[in-house]
Amino acid sequence: MNTGMVGAIAPSSRYLAAEMIRGLDLQHAKAVLEYGPGSGVFTDAILPRLGKDTKYLPIELNEEMVAAFKKRHPNVPLVHDSVENARKICDDHGIDQVDYIICGLPWASFPEALQVRILEGVTKVLKPGGTLVTFGYHVGTLMPAGKRFARLLPRYFSSMSRTPVIWRNIPPAFVLRGTR
Ligand SMILES: C[S@@+](CC[C@H](N)C(=O)[O-])C[C@H]1O[C@@H](n2cnc3c(N)ncnc32)[C@H](O)[C@@H]1O
Repeated sequence: MNTGMVGAIAPSSRYLAAEMIRGLDLQHAKAVLEYGPGSGVFTDAILPRLGKDTKYLPIELNEEMVAAFKKRHPNVPLVHDSVENARKICDDHGIDQVDYIICGLPWASFPEALQVRILEGVTKVLKPGGTLVTFGYHVGTLMPAGKRFARLLPRYFSSMSRTPVIWRNIPPAFVLRGTR
Protein backbone atom coordinates (compact mmCIF):
# COMPACT_ATOMS: atom_id res chain seq x y z
CA MET A 1 0.00 0.00 0.00
CA ASN A 2 1.18 3.56 -0.69
CA THR A 3 1.54 4.86 2.90
CA GLY A 4 2.20 8.45 1.75
CA MET A 5 -1.19 8.43 0.03
CA VAL A 6 -3.07 6.72 2.86
CA GLY A 7 -1.19 8.51 5.65
CA ALA A 8 -2.64 6.59 8.61
CA ILE A 9 -1.66 3.66 10.79
CA ALA A 10 -5.28 2.74 11.54
CA PRO A 11 -8.79 3.77 10.51
CA SER A 12 -10.18 6.73 12.44
CA SER A 13 -12.17 6.04 15.60
CA ARG A 14 -15.89 6.63 16.08
CA TYR A 15 -14.96 9.48 18.44
CA LEU A 16 -13.21 11.30 15.62
CA ALA A 17 -16.01 10.41 13.19
CA ALA A 18 -18.58 11.91 15.60
CA GLU A 19 -16.55 15.14 15.91
CA MET A 20 -16.14 15.35 12.11
CA ILE A 21 -19.89 15.60 11.54
CA ARG A 22 -20.85 17.51 14.70
CA GLY A 23 -22.95 20.58 13.89
CA LEU A 24 -23.33 19.81 10.18
CA ASP A 25 -26.86 20.05 8.81
CA LEU A 26 -26.50 17.01 6.57
CA GLN A 27 -30.26 16.48 6.63
CA HIS A 28 -30.89 19.65 4.61
CA ALA A 29 -27.74 19.63 2.49
CA LYS A 30 -28.16 19.44 -1.28
CA ALA A 31 -24.79 17.81 -1.89
CA VAL A 32 -22.00 16.40 0.27
CA LEU A 33 -18.60 15.12 -0.83
CA GLU A 34 -16.36 12.84 1.19
CA TYR A 35 -12.67 13.11 0.31
CA GLY A 36 -10.58 10.00 0.97
CA PRO A 37 -13.17 7.84 2.75
CA GLY A 38 -10.73 4.93 3.04
CA SER A 39 -12.61 1.91 4.34
CA GLY A 40 -15.61 4.11 5.23
CA VAL A 41 -15.47 4.95 8.94
CA PHE A 42 -16.75 8.50 8.49
CA THR A 43 -19.24 7.19 5.93
CA ASP A 44 -20.85 5.09 8.68
CA ALA A 45 -21.54 8.30 10.60
CA ILE A 46 -22.56 10.37 7.56
CA LEU A 47 -25.05 8.07 5.80
CA PRO A 48 -27.80 7.89 8.46
CA ARG A 49 -27.82 11.69 8.77
CA LEU A 50 -28.25 12.58 5.09
CA GLY A 51 -31.59 13.91 3.87
CA LYS A 52 -33.50 11.77 1.41
CA ASP A 53 -32.68 14.18 -1.44
CA THR A 54 -29.07 14.85 -0.46
CA LYS A 55 -26.53 13.82 -3.08
CA TYR A 56 -23.55 12.15 -1.43
CA LEU A 57 -20.36 11.31 -3.28
CA PRO A 58 -17.30 9.67 -1.72
CA ILE A 59 -14.08 10.01 -3.77
CA GLU A 60 -11.20 7.59 -3.11
CA LEU A 61 -7.96 7.16 -5.05
CA ASN A 62 -6.35 4.06 -3.57
CA GLU A 63 -7.39 0.77 -5.15
CA GLU A 64 -7.13 -1.29 -1.95
CA MET A 65 -9.21 1.28 -0.10
CA VAL A 66 -11.79 1.28 -2.88
CA ALA A 67 -12.12 -2.49 -2.44
CA ALA A 68 -12.40 -2.17 1.37
CA PHE A 69 -15.02 0.58 1.02
CA LYS A 70 -17.11 -1.44 -1.42
CA LYS A 71 -17.09 -4.37 0.96
CA ARG A 72 -18.33 -2.22 3.83
CA HIS A 73 -20.78 -0.13 1.79
CA PRO A 74 -21.77 -2.24 -1.21
CA ASN A 75 -24.75 0.00 -2.04
CA VAL A 76 -22.95 3.33 -1.96
CA PRO A 77 -21.66 4.53 -5.35
CA LEU A 78 -17.98 5.41 -4.91
CA VAL A 79 -15.90 7.48 -7.31
CA HIS A 80 -12.48 5.92 -7.89
CA ASP A 81 -10.45 9.03 -8.73
CA SER A 82 -8.35 11.79 -7.21
CA VAL A 83 -10.11 14.63 -5.39
CA GLU A 84 -7.92 16.91 -7.52
CA ASN A 85 -10.61 16.27 -10.15
CA ALA A 86 -13.51 17.24 -7.88
CA ARG A 87 -14.88 19.87 -10.28
CA LYS A 88 -15.08 17.41 -13.17
CA ILE A 89 -16.46 14.66 -10.93
CA CYS A 90 -19.23 16.99 -9.73
CA ASP A 91 -20.01 18.01 -13.32
CA ASP A 92 -20.23 14.35 -14.34
CA HIS A 93 -22.71 13.75 -11.51
CA GLY A 94 -24.88 16.82 -12.10
CA ILE A 95 -23.66 18.60 -8.97
CA ASP A 96 -23.15 22.36 -9.22
CA GLN A 97 -22.02 23.26 -5.70
CA VAL A 98 -21.70 21.31 -2.47
CA ASP A 99 -22.68 22.26 1.08
CA TYR A 100 -20.02 20.19 2.83
CA ILE A 101 -16.78 18.41 2.12
CA ILE A 102 -15.92 15.86 4.80
CA CYS A 103 -12.29 15.11 4.31
CA GLY A 104 -10.03 12.33 5.56
CA LEU A 105 -7.00 13.19 3.41
CA PRO A 106 -3.52 12.88 4.98
CA TRP A 107 -2.58 16.53 4.34
CA ALA A 108 0.67 16.34 6.31
CA SER A 109 1.97 13.64 3.93
CA PHE A 110 1.30 15.75 0.86
CA PRO A 111 3.78 18.04 -0.92
CA GLU A 112 2.74 21.69 -0.96
CA ALA A 113 1.86 21.66 -4.67
CA LEU A 114 -0.67 18.90 -4.07
CA GLN A 115 -2.11 20.63 -0.98
CA VAL A 116 -2.59 23.76 -3.08
CA ARG A 117 -4.12 21.90 -6.04
CA ILE A 118 -6.66 20.19 -3.81
CA LEU A 119 -7.54 23.40 -1.92
CA GLU A 120 -7.95 25.32 -5.21
CA GLY A 121 -10.27 22.52 -6.29
CA VAL A 122 -12.26 22.87 -3.06
CA THR A 123 -13.04 26.50 -3.90
CA LYS A 124 -14.42 25.39 -7.27
CA VAL A 125 -17.04 23.06 -5.76
CA LEU A 126 -17.80 24.34 -2.24
CA LYS A 127 -20.59 26.91 -2.17
CA PRO A 128 -20.03 30.26 -0.45
CA GLY A 129 -20.92 29.60 3.19
CA GLY A 130 -20.17 25.90 2.69
CA THR A 131 -17.78 24.09 5.04
CA LEU A 132 -14.78 21.82 4.63
CA VAL A 133 -14.23 19.59 7.66
CA THR A 134 -10.91 17.84 7.95
CA PHE A 135 -8.61 16.48 10.62
CA GLY A 136 -4.95 16.45 11.51
CA TYR A 137 -2.89 14.31 13.81
CA HIS A 138 -1.52 16.05 16.90
CA VAL A 139 2.02 14.92 15.98
CA GLY A 140 1.49 16.19 12.41
CA THR A 141 1.47 19.78 13.66
CA LEU A 142 5.21 19.40 14.25
CA MET A 143 5.91 18.15 10.72
CA PRO A 144 6.91 20.73 8.09
CA ALA A 145 4.08 19.70 5.74
CA GLY A 146 1.57 19.93 8.63
CA LYS A 147 2.80 23.42 9.51
CA ARG A 148 2.65 24.45 5.86
CA PHE A 149 -0.91 23.19 5.56
CA ALA A 150 -1.97 25.12 8.68
CA ARG A 151 -0.53 28.28 7.12
CA LEU A 152 -2.21 27.64 3.75
CA LEU A 153 -5.74 27.01 5.00
CA PRO A 154 -6.80 30.56 5.96
CA ARG A 155 -6.15 31.69 2.36
CA TYR A 156 -9.08 29.60 1.19
CA PHE A 157 -11.70 30.20 3.89
CA SER A 158 -13.35 33.22 5.45
CA SER A 159 -13.47 31.56 8.86
CA MET A 160 -11.62 28.67 10.48
CA SER A 161 -11.96 26.74 13.72
CA ARG A 162 -10.02 23.96 15.41
CA THR A 163 -11.23 21.57 18.13
CA PRO A 164 -9.22 20.46 21.14
CA VAL A 165 -7.23 17.25 20.64
CA ILE A 166 -9.33 14.08 20.63
CA TRP A 167 -7.08 11.88 22.76
CA ARG A 168 -9.25 8.80 22.35
CA ASN A 169 -8.36 8.64 18.66
CA ILE A 170 -5.16 6.76 17.87
CA PRO A 171 -3.08 8.69 17.04
CA PRO A 172 -4.63 11.70 18.83
CA ALA A 173 -6.19 14.08 16.35
CA PHE A 174 -8.08 17.38 16.09
CA VAL A 175 -10.75 18.56 13.69
CA LEU A 176 -10.45 21.67 11.52
CA ARG A 177 -13.45 23.43 9.97
CA GLY A 178 -13.11 26.01 7.24
CA THR A 179 -16.10 27.93 5.95
CA ARG A 180 -15.92 29.71 2.61
C1 LIG B 1 -5.85 8.82 6.47
S1 LIG B 1 -6.82 7.86 5.34
C2 LIG B 1 -8.42 8.24 6.02
C3 LIG B 1 -9.45 7.19 5.78
C4 LIG B 1 -10.74 7.38 6.59
N1 LIG B 1 -11.41 8.62 6.22
C5 LIG B 1 -10.43 7.38 8.07
O1 LIG B 1 -10.40 8.48 8.65
O2 LIG B 1 -10.23 6.30 8.62
C6 LIG B 1 -6.71 8.88 3.89
C7 LIG B 1 -7.45 8.38 2.66
O3 LIG B 1 -7.32 9.36 1.63
C8 LIG B 1 -7.10 8.68 0.39
N2 LIG B 1 -6.48 9.61 -0.56
C9 LIG B 1 -5.22 10.10 -0.54
N3 LIG B 1 -5.02 10.93 -1.58
C10 LIG B 1 -6.20 11.01 -2.25
C11 LIG B 1 -6.63 11.73 -3.40
N4 LIG B 1 -5.81 12.55 -4.05
N5 LIG B 1 -7.92 11.56 -3.80
C12 LIG B 1 -8.76 10.73 -3.12
N6 LIG B 1 -8.40 10.02 -2.03
C13 LIG B 1 -7.15 10.15 -1.60
C14 LIG B 1 -6.20 7.52 0.80
O4 LIG B 1 -6.17 6.51 -0.17
C15 LIG B 1 -6.84 7.09 2.11
O5 LIG B 1 -7.86 6.14 1.92
